[in-house]
Amino acid sequence: VNSNEKNQLEGISLLEKLFHHLLMNTEEGHEALEYLLDRGFNESQLNQYKVGWALPGWETASKLLEKKGFDLSLMEEAGLVIKRDDGTYFDRFRNRVMFPIEDAKGRTVGFSGRIITPEKNEPKYLNSPESPLFQKNSLLFNFHKARGSIRKEKFAVLFEGFADVIAASETVSNGVATMGTSLTKQHIQQIKRLTDTVVICYDGDNAGTEAAFKAAGDLSANGMTVKVARLPSGLDPDDYIQKFGGIKFREEVIQHALSLMAFKMWYLRSGKNLQTEDGRLAYINAALPEISGLGSAVEKELYVKQLSDDTGVSFSSLEEQLKTYMPVKENNPVIEEPVIPLPKKTSILK
Ligand code: GTP
Ligand code: MN
Ligand code: MN
Ligand code: MN
Ligand code: MN
Repeated sequence: VNSNEKNQLEGISLLEKLFHHLLMNTEEGHEALEYLLDRGFNESQLNQYKVGWALPGWETASKLLEKKGFDLSLMEEAGLVIKRDDGTYFDRFRNRVMFPIEDAKGRTVGFSGRIITPEKNEPKYLNSPESPLFQKNSLLFNFHKARGSIRKEKFAVLFEGFADVIAASETVSNGVATMGTSLTKQHIQQIKRLTDTVVICYDGDNAGTEAAFKAAGDLSANGMTVKVARLPSGLDPDDYIQKFGGIKFREEVIQHALSLMAFKMWYLRSGKNLQTEDGRLAYINAALPEISGLGSAVEKELYVKQLSDDTGVSFSSLEEQLKTYMPVKENNPVIEEPVIPLPKKTSILK
């Protein structure tokens, strides 16, 4: 750590303490505290994650940093303040609930701030900008705190939002989340150092399902064992926990996560109208190449059976069709095209 970074970490740490104090102990933070308690976080979670409140004023943080002798241009690089044309500085984070973001060593390297009263043209979450300390492509929220339980439980739970991680933390302490970006190779490598199994638990909406499908493919391509937890439609993990509690979340959602192939079958079936011939064919044509890629004959049979049950097409016809997806042999490169054209979707599988 060079001296600039050390300085920046100290500035961030000072503001973390300020924001947390404002939230927990002051009248100015009262409304934000009510908001957080209303949405199901308890005081112990707020203390553990050092959640805070940034005042609406323009110069609360910048004045404090200046008074304590910090170099404001360094604080600007750390994303805490922004420089005006006249050379003075103002606070980046105002009027937001502040979530400190730790790196893998447990050092707070930035913040994500949430608005509590929706305003036009204001993003729901405002993150620290990219900097040498804050790099979203490699940051996993809660990685440092979760390290021990990931090792102990022998798997990690991957959430979409860090609010889900905090909400789940009392019963599922091996959770991590990306900072709103998709899962990168660096994220995967970090998790892989602790475990080779990941349970993906993204939001129960289309975006979450699509993102889970993509992340599942990437994790499995990197040699990880993947399971996918499914939530009732329209709920994210945090909503589910508010409604049904953390124990039910662990026991019904996390412990009942689907195997990767079961998830893929569900995913490929969803959105297809199996009452129509087109829908059944689309499902079959998407599922067969996946089934053909399975390692074991038993698994293949299991999913051909499911496909047959789902579509009413006979097991033997499906098995016959499955053969057209077998890998091309080197000395026999000509292979019959499948009778039914493949939908585009299959190209993103694998
Ligand atoms: P809550 O509404 O507070 O419960 O948030 P959430 O955890 O349900 O977040 P959501 O599912 O909307 O988004 C998942 C993640 O995407 C968040 O944790 C953020 O990291 C990121 N994200 C969501 N909205 C924004 C935004 O407006 N700006 C940025 N930069 N990131 C966002
Ligand atoms: Mn709670
Ligand atoms: Mn979402
Ligand atoms: Mn969500
Ligand atoms: Mn949410």
